[in-house]
Amino acid sequence: MTLEEIANRAREGYIPIIRDNTAQALISVCKEKNPKKILEIGTAIGYSGLLMLQNCQAYLYTIEKDEQRLAEAEKNFKLFGQEARVKLILDDALIALEKLCKDNEKFDLIFLDGAKGQYIKYYPLIKKLLNHDGILFTDNIYMHGMVKSEGKIAHKHRSMVVNLRKYIELLKNDKDFTTNFYDIDDGYSISKLN
Ligand SMILES: C[S@@+](CC[C@H](N)C(=O)[O-])C[C@H]1O[C@@H](n2cnc3c(N)ncnc32)[C@H](O)[C@@H]1O
Repeated sequence: MTLEEIANRAREGYIPIIRDNTAQALISVCKEKNPKKILEIGTAIGYSGLLMLQNCQAYLYTIEKDEQRLAEAEKNFKLFGQEARVKLILDDALIALEKLCKDNEKFDLIFLDGAKGQYIKYYPLIKKLLNHDGILFTDNIYMHGMVKSEGKIAHKHRSMVVNLRKYIELLKNDKDFTTNFYDIDDGYSISKLN
């Protein structure tokens, strides 16, 4: 099994995974930063987790609420001989993040790729979980252009889009972070703690 086959398997199952240019940016962060501990929010079937593990020496904590997807991710981490470097967390991300904060866990890199409408709720917890020089990489910040659009947003997407706009404002106005926003693929941002 190759990583490309895992990506294809995800696409066939309509499981959204990181897009190619965003993946390259995440790989660059892993190579440059060489994090020791990574937290991923939104495992899916382990594609982005494997990308990160293959490009640095880190230990990965990864959170997923879908039991079936996490089981497939576990299988994939084993297939790549990476299971000893991964802690799988089956839970709702908000609950999992609260537990990690309680346990005083710290991470060098956090890859945020879960429920887009929840990012604003995760934000204060994520800040607590980052090491002093940590990096927060957020995917899908522009959500198919909807977040930047001045047009009417379909009702079913409205609260997610409103929350993503609030999340972007939080990042822009937070003096603790320096954030660069990239209008590439579905939009991503890279925030560095100052
Ligand atoms: C975009 S996918 C992750 C893709 C993966 N990072 C990759 O690129 O290979 C988002 C994942 O977040 C999970 N998810 C959504 N809401 C969640 C929540 N509240 N708590 C935990 N996981 C959640 C979904 O089940 C889905 O598998």
